[in-house]
Amino acid sequence: MELRAQLHMHTTESKGTRVRVHSNIHPKAAIDILKKKNIHVAAITDHDNTLAYPRMKDYAEKNGIILINGIEITTRDGEIIGLNVEPGIEKELDRKMSVHEAKDVILDHNGEVLIPHPFSFMGNGIGRKIKEIKGIVEVFNPGNIFSFEDKFAKVVAKKLKLPMVACSDAHYAKMIDRGITVVDAEPSIDSIFKSIRRGKIRFENCNYVTWREIKEWSFLRISSSYEGIMENLKDGWETDKMYMKLADLRFMRFIEKKMLNLGVSKPDSRIWGLMSYIIFLMTNLKAWRTKKSYKPFVFSL
Ligand SMILES: [Fe+2]
Repeated sequence: MELRAQLHMHTTESKGTRVRVHSNIHPKAAIDILKKKNIHVAAITDHDNTLAYPRMKDYAEKNGIILINGIEITTRDGEIIGLNVEPGIEKELDRKMSVHEAKDVILDHNGEVLIPHPFSFMGNGIGRKIKEIKGIVEVFNPGNIFSFEDKFAKVVAKKLKLPMVACSDAHYAKMIDRGITVVDAEPSIDSIFKSIRRGKIRFENCNYVTWREIKEWSFLRISSSYEGIMENLKDGWETDKMYMKLADLRFMRFIEKKMLNLGVSKPDSRIWGLMSYIIFLMTNLKAWRTKKSYKPFVFSL
């Protein structure tokens, strides 16, 4: 039978370090949305914890949704996902781990390895390490708005003969049904992974986020993390990244506070428009550099 699967999504249990709110999808509400969107299988892949799964499990079962316990692990080499892992896996993880070490922990907990956004311009993918890690490759992520990111992932997955899936990486409700992998399998987790490995899949609703959606989510996220950001701006934060050091200068923090206050009090303020142009320019520059650095690797395989 054909099962519509969402294998990479977040709930409110995913927490950011600087901008605290990472997702506005409440665990229980997620099940209602999945059901409404006719999604039969879902993996909850919160950052570095598995707290949401036990809270959702029974309700998912009641609603006929196959729920998979997952985790998106931060490593010093980029992010890696464990799917169908045993609960409590986070106790053995550490953000300073290499991706190889994190993979071993996933396998020790009987999980499957999913490599999310390997060539993301944001730099949170494992990039060239995909060759050593191997696993199921996310070849569509709606946040990969630059054409090379998913294209490179597909080329590499094909060359290395790795299974492929499309995912949403949803952090807000609206995105849950983007990047659906339709799997031809029996309704069991084992059968689903077997079919993914055999390529008995097709993709649905692979549409990238629009600038309007990015602005919408940025506003939601920043305004609901207001207090935490203000705290950071007051005390400053530890960082070794050049652009963060600049943003951490006393004068810059003063400007940021003003902009944040203005932006939050007026959602339709020009400040958001101006900020999105600045971000647009910065991301384009970062994307161009990322593409240039990955290209030789991708086409040398
Ligand atoms: Fe994610």
